[in-house]
Amino acid sequence: MRHPSGRPCHDPAPQSNAARDIAYALHPYTDHKAHLETGPVVISRGKGVRVYDDQGKEYIESVAGLWCASLGFDNERLVQAAATQMRKLPFYHAFTAKSHEPLIDLSEMLIERAPAKMSKVFFANSGSEANDSAIKMIWYMNNAIGRPEKKKLIARIKGYHGITLAAASLTGLPVNHKLFDLPLPGFHHVSTPHHYHNALPGRSEEAFATRLAEELDAKIIAEGPETVAAFWAEPIMGAGGVILPPATYFPKIQAVLKKHDVLMVVDEVICGFWRTGSYWGSQTLGIEPDILVCAKALSASYLPISAVMVNEKVFQGIAEGSSTIGTWGHGFTYSGHPVPAAVAIETLKIYDEMNMGDHVAKVGAYLQAQLRARFADHPLVGEVRGTGMIGAVELVADKATKRNFDPAQKVGIRLTKVGEQNGVILRSMANDSLGFSPPLIITEEEVDEMLNRFGKSLDEIMVTVRRESLAAV
Ligand SMILES: Cc1ncc(COP(=O)(O)O)c(C=O)c1O
Repeated sequence: MRHPSGRPCHDPAPQSNAARDIAYALHPYTDHKAHLETGPVVISRGKGVRVYDDQGKEYIESVAGLWCASLGFDNERLVQAAATQMRKLPFYHAFTAKSHEPLIDLSEMLIERAPAKMSKVFFANSGSEANDSAIKMIWYMNNAIGRPEKKKLIARIKGYHGITLAAASLTGLPVNHKLFDLPLPGFHHVSTPHHYHNALPGRSEEAFATRLAEELDAKIIAEGPETVAAFWAEPIMGAGGVILPPATYFPKIQAVLKKHDVLMVVDEVICGFWRTGSYWGSQTLGIEPDILVCAKALSASYLPISAVMVNEKVFQGIAEGSSTIGTWGHGFTYSGHPVPAAVAIETLKIYDEMNMGDHVAKVGAYLQAQLRARFADHPLVGEVRGTGMIGAVELVADKATKRNFDPAQKVGIRLTKVGEQNGVILRSMANDSLGFSPPLIITEEEVDEMLNRFGKSLDEIMVTVRRESLAAV
C-alpha cells in the first residue's frame, strides 16, 4: 500500500515522521496491525479550512478535525488570547474556592447563552470527562437528597458520549464496548431515532416518534421509575452517523421524562455553538435540558476545555451533599484552566462578532442543498441528511431495499482513503455514513471545492464497488 501522498508506506528513511510514528505512537481509533503497514498521514500545518501534510499535500477538512475546529486552523486572535493569558497567569486551579477571571468570565458567558435557565458551570478538559462529571453530579445529588436508588441512566443505541469508563457506557456503539467489558451495570440503551432505517414500513415521522417515546416509557416502567435518574442524548447524533430525529421526538421524550421525574441531559459536544443552525442543538430540536454538556467548538478546539451546565435543581442537590460531607469531592487539576478558558472566551466573542448564526444560515443552507442536489440520486447513496453545518451521505449496497454494505467490505473506509488522494479528509461512520461538519467559517466556494473532491472520490469508489460486485449498481 501507499501513503495518500504517493510515497511508499514503508518509508525508506528510518528517521521520517511516518517511520517514527509507526515505531512509537499508539493512536486512538486505529487498526494497529494495519497501521504498521500503512503508516500515518502526518499533518504539519493548517490554514483556513485546509490542512497540509508533511509532504506538502493540501486537504480540505470536511469534518473540522473531529467536528471541532470551528474557526479553522489559523485564527490569530485565539493564538493571541492564549499568549496573553499565559503571560498573565499561566495556571491556577479552582479547588477549595479559588478562582480567576477567565473562569468567572467564561462561566457568566455560558450561563447567559444557555438554551434554558441554568445555574452553574463546571469545567473539565474533554467531552468524556464532562459526561463522567455529569453522571457523578446526578448520583451525588440523588444520594444527597435521599433517593439513593435513583441511579440508572438511559442513553441511545449509536449515541456517542466519549470513552472514559462511564461515558463509554453511555455511548451506544459496539466498538466502544466490545473487549472493554462495557457498559457498566446500570447503563441502558433505547432505539436510535433514525426514521430511514428504523421506522416501520409506511409509518410517518410523527408515528415513529410516538413509538420511540412509548418505548422509553415502557423501559422506565420496566426498570422502575424510582431507579431511573437520567436520559442522555445528543440533539443530533454525530459519531453514530449524523442522525436527525423526527421534529416531535424530543418534545415527546421529554413528556415521558417529566412524568417519571427523570433528568434530561443534553450532550452538545458536537451540536453546540451554531453547528446545527442555532446556537445550541437543543434549540434546533426543541429540548429543555436539566444538564448541558459542551466542548469542542467551545474553544474552537485550539486548547482542550469542556463544560457542564446544571440547572438550579441539580445545583441544590450538589450543594446539599457538599455541605453534609464538607466538600464536593470532584474536580480536575485543570478544571477551568485559565489558558483554555481565555481561548474559549475569545472564541465566543468571535462567534458573536462574526454573526456566526447568519453565516451558518446562509452557507449551511447552501451545503445542505448541494449535498442533496449532487448526491441524493447517486446509485451508491441511500440517504442524504443534515441541517445547518452538519450532514451525512450514507452509502448503501442496494438503494431499493436500503441494504448497507457488509462492514467487512470497508467501503466507507476505502472511500476516505480515495478522498485523501483527492485532497479531502473524510470521516466514515457506522453504516458507511460519510459525515460533513466542516469548519463553520467555510465559504460557498470552499463547499463546492470540498464536494467536488468528495464527488470525484465517490465515483472512483463506485468503479471499485462494480469491479468487486459489492452492490446492485
Ligand atoms: C457528542 C459527543 N460527546 C462526547 C464526546 C467525547 O469527547 P472527547 O473526545 O473530548 O472526550 C464526543 C467526541 O466526539 C462527542 O461527539
